[in-house]
Amino acid sequence: MTIHKYDFLIIGSGAAGLLAAHRLAASGRVAVLTKRSPEISNSNLAQGGIAAVTSAEDNFDLHIADTLRTGAGLSDPRIVRLTISEAPARIQELVALGARFSLKNGVFELGLEGGHSRRRVLHAADATGREIERALLEACRADKNITFFPYFSAVDLILKGRPARTRPARNSCLGAYALEESTGKVHSFLASTTLLASGGAGKVYKYTTNPDVATGDGMAMAYRAGLGLVNMEFVQFHPTCLYHPQEKSFLISEALRGEGGILRGEDGEAFMKNYSKYQELAPRDVVARAIDSELKRTGAECVYLDMTHLKAAFLKKRFPNIYAKCLGLGIDITKKPIPVVPAAHFFCGGVQVDEHGRTAMPGLYAIGEVSHTGLHGANRLASNSLLEACVFSHRAAEAIKAEPRLRGEARPAHWSTGNARPPDEAVIITHNWDEIRTLMWNYVGIVRSDKRLARAGARVKIISEEIAMYYWDFFLTRDLLELRNIACLADVIIRAARRRKESRGLHYTVDYPKTSDRFLKPKAVHRYAR
Ligand code: SIN
Repeated sequence: MTIHKYDFLIIGSGAAGLLAAHRLAASGRVAVLTKRSPEISNSNLAQGGIAAVTSAEDNFDLHIADTLRTGAGLSDPRIVRLTISEAPARIQELVALGARFSLKNGVFELGLEGGHSRRRVLHAADATGREIERALLEACRADKNITFFPYFSAVDLILKGRPARTRPARNSCLGAYALEESTGKVHSFLASTTLLASGGAGKVYKYTTNPDVATGDGMAMAYRAGLGLVNMEFVQFHPTCLYHPQEKSFLISEALRGEGGILRGEDGEAFMKNYSKYQELAPRDVVARAIDSELKRTGAECVYLDMTHLKAAFLKKRFPNIYAKCLGLGIDITKKPIPVVPAAHFFCGGVQVDEHGRTAMPGLYAIGEVSHTGLHGANRLASNSLLEACVFSHRAAEAIKAEPRLRGEARPAHWSTGNARPPDEAVIITHNWDEIRTLMWNYVGIVRSDKRLARAGARVKIISEEIAMYYWDFFLTRDLLELRNIACLADVIIRAARRRKESRGLHYTVDYPKTSDRFLKPKAVHRYAR
């Protein structure tokens, strides 16, 4: 087994991972593991932008109030305040690193999105994540202290002791095992600090705006290591994913509604007025549920986002990426409404961390979507996620630099393939993959019920047992790792959702349609506590 030793190990190459790598490289050698090429990440696909108070018409209290209202009672006010008040400094750093945001008359051009009471979303036209990633990747690639390991999939954390039944704090993280795709070999990466920056798990659902890499690997690894996952029932469904047979995951940014886009049914009627006084700019949970209800009511396959009343020149300039993509598929958004459906987009829950991104396990941090900081509560305010990634990667890097280094063991436990042999029937993987994603979409989606959750739980249990048997019998592949991770998270989401006997934010169940004060405290789902 090849052993690599670094000061810092970062799993994931989205905005959170790259920012942390850039900052930590001044204090030691950094390894960045990424499952595909480093450009492939959820951050890279972020269209709308990054929310921050930068204009005279706005202030921190307004951004805080919008975040808390959208979070539906579960956001942590202390975390919300510190994140929002540190945002301007983090934006200046991105600019200093070369990120070019759209400007109007020499100042940031600010977009509006659902739930925001002011224009405050900085953007780079409609491909903000791509621009931020470009700048960060350039900075990281130029840094001799940072080494990228592309096409390496993290398998599991390397722990000092066995996964803890109740006390992860008594254990510590020494690094991670990772599968090298080209050879099929498992390597050990040892580091004094490991940072999970592996993003979310949209691929748990059949329809998602996320890229293929979003299989919740970091969340699943932390869970297997004994850490709790918090608020996993709060899966955000983006209301407007393009509905087209050739493009199943293309996001139609909320910024289009911010600029006046109107949601219409097949009959052309603008229906959002029937659901919220904020209409198209209601928070995402409200808009996604409204679309779901229209689809069920009318039996239609999609609804339409109409931009045709806006000037063509404006649309082409403000949304060049969306305009070109849709045009390539035969939809001229200046002339025709865009067919859209909701799709899984973002996990508000994740690995519990403190205000520095520290998990309960010494040597392990989690930053970005993989983590639960308390910012998003039961529903994330649009464009607060890149912000969280920037603020917490900075805080984590500062905390790591200030603390004494854990000493790694000379040799980690050897990775044993036991009696594993080459996989014989890949159909088991593809079948279970499809089955999990379909049942999560149908039974654990936008509108839930006790019966559907119970049915989903029973199916996922059987599939997980099958996967566990297969896992130890055959050589590891990335497909198998990802399948094991989505099965693990499906189980966690269902358990979290079954426990929450109320409707709040993104968790809506027909059996308990009201909110209840009994569920105000975040609760973790643990591997050993069923
Ligand atoms: C969007 O552009 O609609 C996505 C932005 C976000 O998820 O915050």
